[in-house]
Amino acid sequence: MDSDLAIDVRGMTKRFGTRTVVDGINLQVRRGEICGFLGPNGSGKTTFIRMLCGLLRADGGSGTCLGYDVISESEAIRCEVGYMTQRFSFYEDLSIAENLDFVARMFSLPNRKAAVEDSLEQLGLTGRRSQLAGELSGGWKQRLALAACMLHKPKLLLLDEPTAGVDPKARRDFWDQIHDLAAAGLTVLISTHYMDEAERCHRLAYLSYGKLLAHGGAEDIVAAAGLVTWVVTGPDLSRLALQLRRLPAVRQAVAFGRELHVSGIDAAALEAELAPFREDGYSFRRSGAGLEDVFIQLMESSEDNYIAG
Ligand SMILES: Nc1ncnc2c1ncn2[C@@H]1O[C@H](COP(=O)(O)OP(=O)(O)O)[C@@H](O)[C@H]1O
Ligand SMILES: [Mg+2]
Repeated sequence: MDSDLAIDVRGMTKRFGTRTVVDGINLQVRRGEICGFLGPNGSGKTTFIRMLCGLLRADGGSGTCLGYDVISESEAIRCEVGYMTQRFSFYEDLSIAENLDFVARMFSLPNRKAAVEDSLEQLGLTGRRSQLAGELSGGWKQRLALAACMLHKPKLLLLDEPTAGVDPKARRDFWDQIHDLAAAGLTVLISTHYMDEAERCHRLAYLSYGKLLAHGGAEDIVAAAGLVTWVVTGPDLSRLALQLRRLPAVRQAVAFGRELHVSGIDAAALEAELAPFREDGYSFRRSGAGLEDVFIQLMESSEDNYIAG
């Protein structure tokens, strides 16, 4: 076993009835790394996370999580994992510190008081310890939830869409916190739909219909997709978008403010098909594809397979 890897699994599979919702996923994450988990709703992110910490029994797959066998040692894994679910709730009429103390009691943590103090300190909540949970803004609630899943000093954090519906400033603060925790040695697997958050991960895994379609650093994923993008400016871009989407080499034509981003895989064909539009007063500039363009492209090509299969 490579002890440098916090997650090292192969072929992880889960079926519900006849549907395979997680289909042979291989994933490797180094200790201290932040791995972003992306993909449309229903692609199997939550199911994979639950299998990893033994809350769901896998139908197939092998490997290790924190050095323990992912199938047979799930109890040991659970003790060292902090899991923040998509929905979490607190006692609104208890303070931050009281909520954490309650969780610590529920799990019969040894040195309960010290554990609560440490987690308050680590998440920057000490100054707000007496504030009622019901009075907290979304961002501080998120942080309280994170503090709660850090009480038992886990080595791996599994965070399932922790920032859904949180404002940009609070999301940024939350991510600063995640980076601090990773720098201190924690490994983080975090699912998100936000591209700015994806860009803050060391590594990304993109799922669609239960399959892992891309895995690696953001730059590697963008490069591997081979997507070529042109930025177009000029009159009546919405009409132009409709025209361009009918062209065979155009995979996407998406408006961003006063620009249209037009992408395709076949660079030469795309350039040839776009050429006539230059005469119509449009200006074209080559640009690197963005992560979002790549993910949408991956999703659309996997959808084709799904319908065909
Ligand atoms: N307990 C379950 N029973 C049956 N189907 C389920 C169950 N849990 C999840 N699914 C299905 O598995 C697929 C993947 O779900 P999920 O892992 O929640 O995706 P994500 O977290 O990426 O949105 C979805 O189609 C969902 O409806
Ligand atoms: Mg989910």
